[in-house]
Amino acid sequence: AGAVRYEAENATYTAGSTVDSNHGGFSGTGFVNTPNAVGAYVEWKVPASIAGDATITLRYANGTTTGRPMDLSVNGSVVAPDRAFDGTGAWTTWSDVTLTVPLKAGDNTVRATATTANGAPNLDYLDR
Ligand code: GCU
Repeated sequence: AGAVRYEAENATYTAGSTVDSNHGGFSGTGFVNTPNAVGAYVEWKVPASIAGDATITLRYANGTTTGRPMDLSVNGSVVAPDRAFDGTGAWTTWSDVTLTVPLKAGDNTVRATATTANGAPNLDYLDR
């Protein structure tokens, strides 16, 4: 786990999303449930003191048996297209997707955007 946690419920997200708490095991006060649609996203503001690659972890649950891939972008550029967010077995089972992303010094935006009509999985937090 990273040293700093950014809860999805404190991030920005697609209109129509809800912050839910009906599936346990999440961190913070809840998780973000986006609309089931292409383009549904959660965007975190991630500050960095120096430019360079950073390892981030996205915590999610997908209680379906269908993957919910998302494009991961940093400051508007896709750095990991169609990253897999496979089924976790239950909405109460949370898993990590870890990747390395290039950050600039200062505030960065890290956005996860659904690429299928199923939308995003439920998103709990970003750790770095
Ligand atoms: C269910 C589940 C939600 C989830 C949704 C989905 O309704 O309770 O937490 O977000 O499915 O398919 O996205």
